[in-house]
Amino acid sequence: MPLSDAELKSRAAAVLDENWRDGYTLPSARLYPFQWNWDAGFIAIGWGHHRPERALEEVRSLFRAQWRTGLVPHIAFHRPDPHYFPGPEIWRVERSPNAPTRVRTSGITQPPVFGFALERLAASPAGHLPEWKPFLAEILPKVAAFHRYLYHYRDPQGEGLVYVQHNWEAGTDNSPTWDPILDAIQSDRFRDVAALRQDVKRVAAGHRPPDAHYQRYLHLVDLFAELNYDDREIAAQSPFLVQDVLFNSMLVRSHQGLARLGRTVGLEFRDLEELNARTVAAINRKLWDPARRFYVAYDLRNERPLPVRTSSGFMPLFAGICPPERAAALAEHLEHAFVRGPDWRLCPSTAVDEPGFDPRRYWRGPVWVNLNWMLGHGLRRAGRDALAARVRADTLDLVRTSGMYEYFDPRPPDGGTAGLGADRFSWTASLCLDWLANPAPL
Ligand code: GLC
Repeated sequence: MPLSDAELKSRAAAVLDENWRDGYTLPSARLYPFQWNWDAGFIAIGWGHHRPERALEEVRSLFRAQWRTGLVPHIAFHRPDPHYFPGPEIWRVERSPNAPTRVRTSGITQPPVFGFALERLAASPAGHLPEWKPFLAEILPKVAAFHRYLYHYRDPQGEGLVYVQHNWEAGTDNSPTWDPILDAIQSDRFRDVAALRQDVKRVAAGHRPPDAHYQRYLHLVDLFAELNYDDREIAAQSPFLVQDVLFNSMLVRSHQGLARLGRTVGLEFRDLEELNARTVAAINRKLWDPARRFYVAYDLRNERPLPVRTSSGFMPLFAGICPPERAAALAEHLEHAFVRGPDWRLCPSTAVDEPGFDPRRYWRGPVWVNLNWMLGHGLRRAGRDALAARVRADTLDLVRTSGMYEYFDPRPPDGGTAGLGADRFSWTASLCLDWLANPAPL
């Protein structure tokens, strides 16, 4: 029996409670036993409706792991846990003079989420806490420092577009977008990841990336450690430098939240205003593919577009920066290239006619709740309310019938579960809570 709204809310709240660890929330107790960066932003939004004080703690905990350069790491290893690979001993971030000493971290980042996560929180009970404004005055400058880090270190040609140096930074770990770059990496020093991986012991290997790709993910991490996490050296030497649509669109949306909230506490970030305007223009100039009529990533190392249509390509809608004819083209894609029929669930992470599409493997086809939540808000921003309602209904329906999974099979129901990866996944719970509690667009 599908869950009612009330049941869904109480199950979602229970997942958050269960994954809470005295100051921060695990994405999944089974697969991800630390605090993750963009997860923390999405998770804080849910806490805002359930236990608002924890939203503030969640955000503070992550920013305790911020680097001297402003980088916010993708994992904060607050407490040791041997059941995870790659752990701090692989990352070796102590090789960088910029890494924090009070908490161990990874050495890469994830998409910018805090400007808009805080904006959403402001509209929840968290925004009515007596310490809300002092909290904003403390955190917003740290969010701004992260955005400045990106512009300073990740935009070598001053284009307004920042690059990701690892597929894990893009958030969409094994999207087929990265295949040509990863496949071209050759080495006789690949680690024996089959022996080291923990994820495939905990969930079905067919739902996760294969070893051949995992070796290359680790190869990049080893390279960064060898280069002491020096961004200039990485920019000069790494094979993976990508200007991604999702990352840059979220940077724009996060900036909008940062600027608006800053005004409520008398803070201005003028330097970022100008940089943000350049990002908006550059996304529309460089990442729009006129032949496909879709936004695609750009491989800065090899100077070529990476023309795979994925759900990341819709995110300029979330940033509110698409001219109307482009928004129309995106809506057209969503209704036709991302489904094979009316019973398919929006929004697969990869277009169904892409050769890399796989409905069960991680970011190569399954539906993800965080992307859907941003897509739903983006469609509303573009005035496409009916399509936005469909994205919301499809998402909640998947969760009602299958549970709080990490990702979902987009194909029509066949009697089995559509839930994939980790169960009791925190951002799935958190964003369902937000969708049920706050009907306002973001
Ligand atoms: C996976 C996802 C990534 C997420 C992490 C923790 O690696 O691909 O986006 O942040 O899990 O949930």
